[in-house]
Amino acid sequence: MTNKYMFFIANWKMFGDLGTLNTLNKVIAFSKKIKKKKFKLIYCPPTTLIYPLTKILKKTSIDVGAQNCHESKKYGAYTGEINSKMLRGVGAKYIILGHSENRKSGENDKLINLKISAATKSGLKVIFCIGETLNEKRKKVTKKILAKQINRGLSKIRNKKSILIAYEPVWAIGSGLIPEETELFETVNFIKSKVKGAKVLYGGSVSPKNINSLKDINNIDGFLIGGASQVSNNLIDIIKKTYN
Ligand code: PGA
Repeated sequence: MTNKYMFFIANWKMFGDLGTLNTLNKVIAFSKKIKKKKFKLIYCPPTTLIYPLTKILKKTSIDVGAQNCHESKKYGAYTGEINSKMLRGVGAKYIILGHSENRKSGENDKLINLKISAATKSGLKVIFCIGETLNEKRKKVTKKILAKQINRGLSKIRNKKSILIAYEPVWAIGSGLIPEETELFETVNFIKSKVKGAKVLYGGSVSPKNINSLKDINNIDGFLIGGASQVSNNLIDIIKKTYN
């Protein structure tokens, strides 16, 4: 049981259209029933849905975030790209950066660092994803990898208060697997020792089934939820169970 202020971040990835937004009615009703500001819920839909979602969530406590951006703060000849200022302009308050799915398609620590810098300067709060692969876990180099991702990703970033760190082991994303409790507690502590005062979230296969064990890890400040967040009832269940 926790009474802690927690972040619940729904990462919709490449999922959803305008019609899907209607399914959020349940979540909106649920969030309105909660009297105290117990937690922060943030939806990160695909870019096409950011603006319409901000309209729908206008009178609620739920915020909207983006999933990635270009590193340039200025307009430019970058076909197909969108920058952090444009996202802030349509109402996004948060942005996921450094997600392993983007690292896999070529983003390196340097590029992620440039994106974090641009996003914080545009007034976005950053959900900075880090995590080791299965191979790195087996080689027992998790801490080394996380330290490298943190040092390079947050290099010269002054406004660390606008950063939330999401620890997402690559092998746990979409696999149904989660780290062992003691191991996860230790890793979150390690991340907190590297970035003083940082809020650290866990992500990777968070579901109504495993939330009861995850919520007992008391140094975790919230969850980044992929697949399970696409179904309103599952997300509500995750939040309810966290506080039960
Ligand atoms: P998952 O995704 O919950 O579907 O594992 C989490 C994420 O990739 O952010």
